[in-house]
Amino acid sequence: MQKLAIQGGTPLHGEVRISGAKNAALPIMCAGLLTADTLQLSNVPELHDVSTMRKLLEQMGVKACVRGGEMALYGGQVDKPEAPYDMVKTMRASVLVLGPLVARFGEARVSLPGGCAIGSRPVDLHIKGLQAMGATISIEHGYIHAQAKRLKGARIFFDIVSVTGTENLIMAAALADGVTVLENAAREPEVVDLAHCLRAMGAKISGDGTDTITVTGVDELHGAAHRIMPDRIESGTFLVTAAATGGSITLTDTRADILETVLEKLGEAGAKISASGDRIHLEMNGRPKSVNVRTAPYPAFPTDMQAQFMALNCIANGSAMVVETIFENRFMHVQELRRLGAQIEVEGNTSVVRGVDHLEGAAVMATDLRASACLVIAGLVAQGETVIDRIYHLDRGYEHIEAKLSQLGANIRRLK
Ligand code: UD1
Repeated sequence: MQKLAIQGGTPLHGEVRISGAKNAALPIMCAGLLTADTLQLSNVPELHDVSTMRKLLEQMGVKACVRGGEMALYGGQVDKPEAPYDMVKTMRASVLVLGPLVARFGEARVSLPGGCAIGSRPVDLHIKGLQAMGATISIEHGYIHAQAKRLKGARIFFDIVSVTGTENLIMAAALADGVTVLENAAREPEVVDLAHCLRAMGAKISGDGTDTITVTGVDELHGAAHRIMPDRIESGTFLVTAAATGGSITLTDTRADILETVLEKLGEAGAKISASGDRIHLEMNGRPKSVNVRTAPYPAFPTDMQAQFMALNCIANGSAMVVETIFENRFMHVQELRRLGAQIEVEGNTSVVRGVDHLEGAAVMATDLRASACLVIAGLVAQGETVIDRIYHLDRGYEHIEAKLSQLGANIRRLK
């Protein structure tokens, strides 16, 4: 199993290019199932999750052609509308094929994702939404079996804001008969990016970016070209790393407008931030100040940045409260941070982090994607060597992470 060895104590300096967003690329690749033409994507990140999604689409009959960050998906010969357990269990986002498959082929068999490290994460809202649109759904041998001659437009209210739930139903509604209104829909920028791509394919969608999205179904969608938006979580992760190490970095090919709460929190921590065009510059002098964070759906503070801010708070001046409201078990990094000398108390969904002068390198284990990023940050600020095990989690969501960090002056290497 691969590990990362990090020699801490070097502030990050320099410029780094931000990759395309994993959480936009995955649903947008599934949009390729909605047309018999070619969907031409650019700025697609080279990530493990992206290749898992490509393989899943290919085994259904989609032809995929990848060259660097370009990906062409041809959905004209799909003959097996099925997502097997082996793939869904490694990547929950596989459930995003459900809506497009029922909408275009009238049938889908998609494995239930089951639990994952950060919580139980059910897909009941995806299923209820499709049922409201007229699909007959049964659960057979661990598989969701959905059928519908043609989905019908419906008014659907989400009890809980769900990002992939919203995306699945937008894609289903794009080919349904009539108008679908999604209420309490997710406002995440990745939902908006998907809507942009679908509109380029001929879909009629409005209200994306607000909590009420209206989709008027069309008979068919056509091919299109779409550039994947920048990854706001990768952007935020590099900014927090620079702030925690007391460095100064510039991100290119990114967007400040989708990172507002994160930039605000970094400002509170004492970082000087400026943004212009597709660049964000951050400079940090001295030790960061502690910052309270409370995760909630967009535009509030993202749960995918919670662990990274926890790492920053570990060495900050003062105490901070970190409250996780989205996932019930997203504090697994706490145990590992404690191995580096962090002072953290956990009570239910709240952690209290007392900043210490320094962390000390140790052997730690990554438990999920963003927890891995948090351990990389902690390793980069710790004195001595930190070795992170199970970094396959990191490769699911961060493109060329050690190359990018090395370019910024970090002492980091992969042990194979
Ligand atoms: C997406 C992101 C993930 C991010 C999360 C929250 C992708 C591929 N992944 O995950 O990185 O951490 O949003 O911003 O975009 N829920 C239900 N029933 C459902 C669906 C969700 O109860 O049918 C609950 C979940 O258990 C969770 C909450 O709703 O507590 C939000 O989850 P959701 O937004 O659906 O997360 P994902 O879309 O899986």
